[in-house]
Amino acid sequence: MGKKMKRKNAGKKGRFNICVIGAGYVGLVVASCFAKLKNKVICVDSNQEKVKLLKQSKIPNFEPGLPAIIRDAVKKKRLSFTTSISEAVKKSDIIFIAVGTPPRKDGEADLSAVENVARTIAQSLDSYKLIVEKSTVPVQTGIEIKKTILRYTSKRNKDFDVASNPEFLREGKAIDDFLYPDRIVIGVETKRAEKILKKLYEPIKAPVLVTDINTAEIIKHASNSFLATKISFINAVARVCEEAGADVRKVAEGIGMDARIGRRFLDAGIGFGGSCFPKDVEAFIGISKKLGYRFNLLEEVKNINISQRRHLVSKIKEELWIIKDKNIAVLGVSFKPDTDDVRESPSIDIINYLLEEGAKVRVSDPKALSKASELLKGAHFCKDPYIAVKNADCLILATEWKEFAELDFRRIKRLMRYPFIADGRNFLDRDKLRRAGFKYIGIGR
Ligand SMILES: NC(=O)c1ccc[n+]([C@@H]2O[C@H](COP(=O)([O-])OP(=O)(O)OC[C@H]3O[C@@H](n4cnc5c(N)ncnc54)[C@H](O)[C@@H]3O)[C@@H](O)[C@H]2O)c1
Repeated sequence: MGKKMKRKNAGKKGRFNICVIGAGYVGLVVASCFAKLKNKVICVDSNQEKVKLLKQSKIPNFEPGLPAIIRDAVKKKRLSFTTSISEAVKKSDIIFIAVGTPPRKDGEADLSAVENVARTIAQSLDSYKLIVEKSTVPVQTGIEIKKTILRYTSKRNKDFDVASNPEFLREGKAIDDFLYPDRIVIGVETKRAEKILKKLYEPIKAPVLVTDINTAEIIKHASNSFLATKISFINAVARVCEEAGADVRKVAEGIGMDARIGRRFLDAGIGFGGSCFPKDVEAFIGISKKLGYRFNLLEEVKNINISQRRHLVSKIKEELWIIKDKNIAVLGVSFKPDTDDVRESPSIDIINYLLEEGAKVRVSDPKALSKASELLKGAHFCKDPYIAVKNADCLILATEWKEFAELDFRRIKRLMRYPFIADGRNFLDRDKLRRAGFKYIGIGR
């Protein structure tokens, strides 16, 4: 640790001054949890509206447990918000970059926000800083960040390190995932950077894996791509089960009991979505190609995933024949339960296919209706799921919110025009629903 940094931390029991750039799903959790661990954190976002809300302790994203941690940290003066990167950088020892890295049209990661932030950091350097990539980025981005900072900083201020510290949290379980992770990956070039990050993470009792920066970057892309592969694998198996008259849920149980395989991420359904898996698989394919390797396995993972959405719609068509003018209720629009995130949600695609075919679609979701209404034109949004299912010819279960399992299906049967359930997540109790008189279809069973 630099002398200046030691001085700044004097009397703070070794805790740090941290700046987290990007107050999104990841940045807010990272900033508030580091503040909970007694660091002094400034969270920066270029979105003025967002920062204004945060300053009033209003949280722009739904994440269980997050508002209480933010409120407590703000009260203890350990967490503050600003739109000024330079102000935050000057006051910090460690700078986390947690801005978005969304997909470009060609599938590669759009790194313009990361580059933009790196330039601003460069112009604000005034003493040693550790600059850490938290955003998910393709391998060799760390090298580019370093080059960018060297290009834009003044001759006097070249005392910095770049590191990679990929984030593995899941939305909906983000706080626990951050505070109790399976592992912490630290990609560094210097002992100094390694020492600082190890010290920062000391209160979190988790195994720490230290690598070089390129390796850490690949660990993140490879982790998400592997989990996505597991999901597409079981979805492919589900298709075979449907043809053969087998039950994919039992197949998943049977293969999952093998400790080498594990049961998790083997739930057949309408596929993965969200802001990470689709984009990270795509970006990993993209960077591999750039480096000279065609990652055909991941191309297929992607194809299987997209085909699952159409597959559910074809199964509905098999039952209803014509979709035009049918009333269809879709329960769940977030890409998974316990989040309001609708980015790349399979439910959105399914709703759009149905709307294209002329269906009347009513959508219900416990948390994601407001975000969905920005993306979906032509659907009706109902807070109350019982209103969504009124006179419906089909109910699609698209997100496995526990609230939906607790619905009164006898009442739903009375409300629907034709009691037909297409369970895109194999989530509801099939046998019970069939006994209650529903026509029920799932995936792979
Ligand atoms: N969401 C997840 O579950 C998750 C999990 C692990 C890793 N990641 C990765 O973390 C990164 C952030 O993801 P997210 O879901 O939090 O994204 P997000 O879109 O929710 O948040 C990104 C934030 O960065 C801000 N921003 C953009 N450009 C900026 C700039 N120049 N200066 C300051 N702020 C700027 C945006 O206004 C936004 O608030 C991505 O690389 C993502 O792949 C996400």
